[in-house]
Amino acid sequence: MRTFDIVTPLKAVKFDELSIQEQNLVEIARDATYRSYAPYSHFRVGAAILLENGEIVPGSNQENVAFPSGTCAERTACFFAHSQYPDQAFKAIAIAARGVDELPLASPIAPCGACRQSLLEYEMLAGHDVKVLLVGRDEIFILPSVKSLLPLAFTEF
Ligand code: THU
Repeated sequence: MRTFDIVTPLKAVKFDELSIQEQNLVEIARDATYRSYAPYSHFRVGAAILLENGEIVPGSNQENVAFPSGTCAERTACFFAHSQYPDQAFKAIAIAARGVDELPLASPIAPCGACRQSLLEYEMLAGHDVKVLLVGRDEIFILPSVKSLLPLAFTEF
């Protein structure tokens, strides 16, 4: 038998410790929560994707009365980004959320499994790591890549 430990590297930083470009990305993700359409969960998520050309594409969760038809913020952003800028590799993504009390969440949230798989596709297309910033009110978690959030991912068929 062989055993392995899979380690997820994570840095927790304050807003001031981010680069100006990352601070901007975080602010755009926070701002996107205000365009969330979440009349059912009242959980408002915003994402912002930084592209190789410096463009930042935001997205928010868009719910639907037929529940599975809605989309998370991360997939709204990544599908829109790649449909608008198919030649631009992703460099980073920031994800922020506000809870039912409308306030920014104290602790960061992490993307759901379907979003991790979708984002991984674009990381593979980019051919390099796509940094992930999970935005809490007082602290931001930074992961080096999407694959670090989805070890043992399904990548080939
Ligand atoms: N949601 C996101 O947009 N991103 C996540 O990472 C987790 C969940 C959305 C889906 C749904 O509209 C609401 O949050 C509650 O689950």
